[in-house]
Amino acid sequence: MRFSVAMPEDLLVRFDRLVARRGLAKNRSEVVRDLVRDALVEDDCATPGAEVVGTLTIVFDHHASDLQEKLHSIQHDYCEFIVSSLHVHLDQHMCLEVIVLRGETGLVQDIANLILGTKGVQNGRLVVTTTGHLA
Ligand code: NI
Repeated sequence: MRFSVAMPEDLLVRFDRLVARRGLAKNRSEVVRDLVRDALVEDDCATPGAEVVGTLTIVFDHHASDLQEKLHSIQHDYCEFIVSSLHVHLDQHMCLEVIVLRGETGLVQDIANLILGTKGVQNGRLVVTTTGHLA
């Protein structure tokens, strides 16, 4: 189905730069479809009850008092929603952890907030997406 849309010139110029950055394999129409799918995924993920998968990336100092133990304990408490985790030792002090979660969107965000709110976690971010069943 064709769908045309009027767009201000300056917006189109900037959009074409984005299309160019995505490489030769993508044209305007394909990038527009990607953006629409992104918006639909975001909307789906915000719908209570939706099943989502999320990656939570955190950075912390492993010397911080009993932090590793707390993080470990949370992950055991919610092990049925934690698919996997990856630990990278960044230097003598700092660690990066990527935790993959799967479950109802509100629960995934609650678990992420519990981890992000643990004293000693310096920064982090949860990225959620759907389980891929979007047309
Ligand atoms: Ni480490």
